[in-house]
Formats: sequence, structure tokens, C-alpha cells
Amino acid sequence: MSIPDSQLTVLRQAAIDASRNAWCPYSGFPVGAALLATDGRIFSGCNVENASHGLTLCAERNTIGQAIVAGCREFEALLVFTATQAPTTPCGACRQVITEFAPDAEVICVCDGPDSIRTLMRELLPHSFGPHSMAEHNFDQAVGLDQAAKLSE
Ligand code: THU
Repeated sequence: MSIPDSQLTVLRQAAIDASRNAWCPYSGFPVGAALLATDGRIFSGCNVENASHGLTLCAERNTIGQAIVAGCREFEALLVFTATQAPTTPCGACRQVITEFAPDAEVICVCDGPDSIRTLMRELLPHSFGPHSMAEHNFDQAVGLDQAAKLSE
């Protein structure tokens, strides 16, 4: 189900605000993201680059981290903002990390231009690797995950 326009507007503004704090001196490519949690909370994040380029943290993964720190793990939608004329979708690494917590989320990619992309996480990362993959093939890991879930309840 698509989130209503009113929530879209709030998410968009949160992502734009976050992108203004992006640390991106190496790429000059600011990104902002905003997550809508099932309980209505909104989390946001920006990309944080590093002189050791490989350690760069994307806006989407930063945003997931902000939510997890706050104890939030269930999400409805993720919006990504780039200050470009065409919308950009989350990179492969971010798709994997988003899928861990929000496999059913709607994903909205917006930009400075009029175009946007509205899709679903499961469309962006079909046949994903997840806990279910280990449950099928590695009993010990599956038990470990089950225990970890109980511990964090
Ligand atoms: N970036 C993101 O924040 N999210 C993505 O999904 C793709 C790329 C950032 C990483 C880097 O700081 C800059 O954009 C250029 O790749």
C-alpha cells in the first residue's frame, strides 16, 4: 500500500534537511534519506564520506542505523533524496541492509526535478539473501538467529 501524500511531504523534507548535512567532500554528491516507521516515527540520515573512500557510509544505511539505535525495527517506507535532475535508487549494499529490516517497505526516490520513482524493496532486491536463506541451509545459524531475536525482545 502506498503511503499518503501528507507523509510523503514530511519524509521528503526530512531527507532534504538530512542531505544538507551530508559529508561528501570527495564526491560532491549529497544524499539524504528518511524512514517512516510503522509506529509513525521518522528517522533520517545523510551520506558520510571518508578520506579512505571505501569506508563511506551511504545515507540509507546511516538512516537504518539511526532507527536501530532508537530501538525501532519496523518500517513502512524509505524515501531517498538526491539534488539531481533525475531520481537515483539505493546502491546494492544499501538494498541488502534495508532488506534486513524493511523487506516489505515502499521506496520512494525523489530529486530536484519533477520525476520520482515509487517502488518496493522487494522489487529493488528480488530473491534476496536473508535469515530465511540460512534457516534452509544451516540449522545452527538459524537457531542462533532465533536465540538472538528472543534475547532482544
Ligand atoms: N550514496 C548514497 O548515500 N546512497 C546510495 O545509495 C548511493 C551513493 C553516496 C555515497 C557517496 O558518498 C556518494 O553518494 C557518491 O557515491
